Amino acid sequence: MKLSVALNAEQREFDVPANTTLLSLLREEAGCFSVKHGCETGDCGACAVIVDGRIVNACILLAAQVDEREVITVEGIPWVMASMSGAAQHNELPEASDVEGGAGHNSSDSNAASKSSFQNPEAFSREEHPSTYELLHPLQQAFVDAHAIQCGYCTPGMILSSLALFAEKGLIELPSIKRKTRVTPVRRKPGIKKLPPSEQEVREALAGNLCRCTGYLKPVEAVLRAAEELVSEG
Ligand code: FES
Ligand code: FES
Repeated sequence: MKLSVALNAEQREFDVPANTTLLSLLREEAGCFSVKHGCETGDCGACAVIVDGRIVNACILLAAQVDEREVITVEGIPWVMASMSGAAQHNELPEASDVEGGAGHNSSDSNAASKSSFQNPEAFSREEHPSTYELLHPLQQAFVDAHAIQCGYCTPGMILSSLALFAEKGLIELPSIKRKTRVTPVRRKPGIKKLPPSEQEVREALAGNLCRCTGYLKPVEAVLRAAEELVSEG
């Protein structure tokens, strides 16, 4: 069956058997090897990905269930970072003419050009933004700094569970090539300070990500550390 999936800033088309799982689609068809193959029963969280802003286990979803939906894996984190850094400050998707340099594209409007570059799914790539791909997200850096990674098999799922928590708490906005306007689940009135998640909230967010190595203390510490950094950055 034919599927159209917004995957990490890119609209991708797939033609797969109807019984293909999302895990197989992402690893075998899309080449997203950050999505790990673990229990295949929805228990370990190694295959966790973000679908339309929510964390899900890819092994227990059919690929068909993400047709016309938006999926973010760890490979999409440079795109998430670019949105955090203000590479795109507007809410509307560009017109085709903006994206392709058509009649509506004015080369003197460099701001519009950078917005188009960010939101054009064809354009946001390692080639287009090489420096972004060399950086770690503050959350990834916190995992390194807190020594929260041992074998690393659980780490992509933990990173995405934490990103989904941060988005839910309003610390970050997950970018989208499908939504006309961005969605921030927690809306604060102007002037209301961002609050980091509590340790309990972090533990609950990571509860679906099993780790055989770290004992969970370091990953929880890393997530809290990254949350504090995001709050202090405003
Ligand atoms: S492999 Fe999907 S939850 Fe374990
Ligand atoms: S670091 Fe090895 S499973 Fe978590």
